Order: sequence, then structure tokens, then C-alpha cells
Amino acid sequence: MKPALTQLGTDMTRLTGVRAIMKDIIETLRSGAGQDFINLSAGNPLILPEVEQLWRDCTADLLASAEYGDVVCRYGASQGYQPLIDAVVTDFNRRYGLSLTERNVLITPGSQSLYFYAANAFGGYSSSGTLKKIVLPLSPDYTGYGGVALNQDALFAYKPFLDIDAVAHRFKYRPDFSQLSIDEETGCVLFSRPCNPTGNVLTDEEVQKIADLAAPYDVPVIVDSAYAPPFPALNFTAMTPLFGENILHCMSLSKAGLPGERIGIAIGDEQLIQVLECFQTNMCIHSPRYGQAIAARAINSGALATIAANVIRPFYQKKINIIEATLDRVMPDVPWFLHRGEGAIFAWLWLKDLPMTDGDLYQALKKVGVIVVPGSSFFPGLREDWDHTRQCLRISLTGTDEELETAMTRLAGVVEQVYQRSVVAT
Ligand SMILES: Cc1ncc(COP(=O)(O)O)c(C=O)c1O
Repeated sequence: MKPALTQLGTDMTRLTGVRAIMKDIIETLRSGAGQDFINLSAGNPLILPEVEQLWRDCTADLLASAEYGDVVCRYGASQGYQPLIDAVVTDFNRRYGLSLTERNVLITPGSQSLYFYAANAFGGYSSSGTLKKIVLPLSPDYTGYGGVALNQDALFAYKPFLDIDAVAHRFKYRPDFSQLSIDEETGCVLFSRPCNPTGNVLTDEEVQKIADLAAPYDVPVIVDSAYAPPFPALNFTAMTPLFGENILHCMSLSKAGLPGERIGIAIGDEQLIQVLECFQTNMCIHSPRYGQAIAARAINSGALATIAANVIRPFYQKKINIIEATLDRVMPDVPWFLHRGEGAIFAWLWLKDLPMTDGDLYQALKKVGVIVVPGSSFFPGLREDWDHTRQCLRISLTGTDEELETAMTRLAGVVEQVYQRSVVAT
């Protein structure tokens, strides 16, 4: 059967951004092509034994408690499971000296849904017919933002300023405040910190400046903190989560070992939280409560924050160190720049003047058994043509130490050939 789709149905079923590449990757792995691939495409965190044990222990505790029936056999409030809301309020008030109440917190089924609610509650056509923009102040950013707006025209990303250290072969994206415009046409601002795909961490000052630009227009600034402290604490550089009247601080427990349970947490102004809660009621009534009940235990005991800082962060910090050291050792004399590894679970490589597209390079790397993600999937909402978007790769840190070293060595070999061929051809 081939149902007739609405415009929205067509938009939502289109294989956008990274979904198209993921389809190719799954088919490549399935076909095998007689090859053992080093797959560095995944956004899926690795299962770390201490993290799995934490969730196992919390589950055992829940199963043995009188609370169990109430958790799984009953509907609950849309806002979330009360013990988890209370745990977040207590933890954040103590940790960051805030005065949150239970009305400042919303629990969602994963944080992706949170961005979907927010993008459409604040972005898109207003009742007076003006298009309210969803502003991504620094492109590239999370590919998942490409699909959250029901009105695709609303998504609007800004090209960054490139802070380049040519000697060290490193660079860092910074918001270009000379271009960034936040005004009465802005519905909301959205960015990830630490950033998927680049590992960038906007500085505290940069975030505050964005929030200050948005405040006069009552524009919510949504800070996607899926990799931020206190959990999963996947920041390798110092950063402070910022709170404020127009800041919606959004977290996820996915990278803290619980992606299967789908837990997103929004912290912010009561009125913003209420809007998102209404969206949630219409969409799915509430998040599953089993994951929320074990998360409440892990937060209340302090174990989640401790394991994040002592196990999760050092594990991925070591991986980015391996990528950096290997590339420094093996890369040929071409204009390559690795984004400063400040957080998240990815390395981001820019190959300036790359003589082929990122898509072609992805194919060439597949031939030597290495799978990474072409960078062009990570510029949702960017309107202008920019050759930089076709010169980057995202490399997941989810390989073994040996796999990362081998993959970077093979990548260096392919890159050398690609640039050499272009010299011969010119
Ligand atoms: C930056 C960023 N935001 C949001 C998400 C979605 O996470 P969740 O599992 O909480 O829906 C991801 C997932 O990889 C991500 O990388």
C-alpha cells in the first residue's frame, strides 16, 4: 500500500542528514564485503561495566521495593515521576546554588523529544502569520535538529568564526557575533554544549552573551546539555552550566548509560516548562516511569555524578587523546585541522582544500575498512553554500584504543593519496 502523505508526512519521512548515511552504513556492514570494518560512525555510547552495574543495582533496588507496582502499573503526571523531579531539584540546588522548585523541571522520553516540543512551540508561524526562527547560533551542530521543526523554513543556522592554530593543526569554532542576529523574529535559540559533532564547548561568556542578546525579546535559549556536567560530564575542558530566566537547560541520561530508557530533563522557567509539558501531554501523556525511578536512585545516592566524573569522562578523554596523538604522528603534510577536543564522544577533522567531497572521502575510507560520518550531514539550517561543509569528517570515539590508532593511520594514508593525486592532476 502506498498511502498519500500530507506535506508534513513527506517532510517527516524524508531521509535527511545523517539518516541517509546511517542507512548506507548499515547496508555496508550487513553486506560485509568480506571485510572487517572499524566502525567509527556510532553515536551510541559504549557499555562501560561500572555504568552498567550502577543501573543494575538501581534496578535491583527498585524491584525489591514497595514502589515497584506504583512505578510500572500506574499512569502518572505528564511532568514526570515525582521522585525524579525531586532528585533533580535537590541535586541542582545544592550543586549550583539555585532555588529551583518542582515547577522548574520536566521529564521527557529522551531529550530529542524535548527539542521537538520546543522547536515547534517557539519556532514556526505565529498566530499573526510571522515566521519565528529557530536560530542555531553556531553551525555545525547536532544533525537531529534538522528534523525537529514541523516547518523546515524556520530553522536558521549561522556560519561560525574559525579560530585556527596552523602550527598545532588544531582549530575551534566560535560564534560570529558580528553576524548573529536575535530579534523579534526569533522564536528560540538552540545549540549543543558540548557539541555533537565537533566536541566544541562554547565558553561561559559566549553562552551568557547569547542569553543576553535573546533576553530583551523574551526568546528562550535552549542549551542542549546531552554531554554536559554533572552527568554524563563528557566535558574535557572546564565549563559551568548556566541558568537564567530565558535559559532552558536540557539534559539527557543517554550518554550516562541509559539511552534505552529514554530520559530527557528540562530545567527552566516555570512558564517555559508548562508549555513543553502541554506538548508532552498531547504527544505521549508522559515518559515511561521505570527509567525515571532508577534514575532518581542514581541521582539521590550521588553515584551517577561520581561515576560520570570518575569513569565516563576519563574513558572518552583517553580516546580523544589517542586520536590526537595518532593524527599528530601519522598525518601527511596537508592542511588538516582537528577541532579542539573539549567534550562529547567525537573527533571532528577538517581537511582544508580537500580535493574531493566529504562523501567521496567517506567512500574511499570504506575501501580501507574505516567507517566515519561525512561532515556535511551536520549543518542543518545553514542556507549559504560553504565549501567547508564538504571538507569535514566526524569520527566517533567509540572504538578500542587499537581500532582508533589503526583507523587514523589508514585515514592518513588515504588522505595523502587524495591530495597527491590532485597535485599530479593539476
Ligand atoms: C547533542 C545531542 N542532543 C540530543 C541527543 C538526543 O539524545 P536523547 O537520547 O536524549 O534523545 C543526542 C543524541 O545523540 C545528541 O548528541
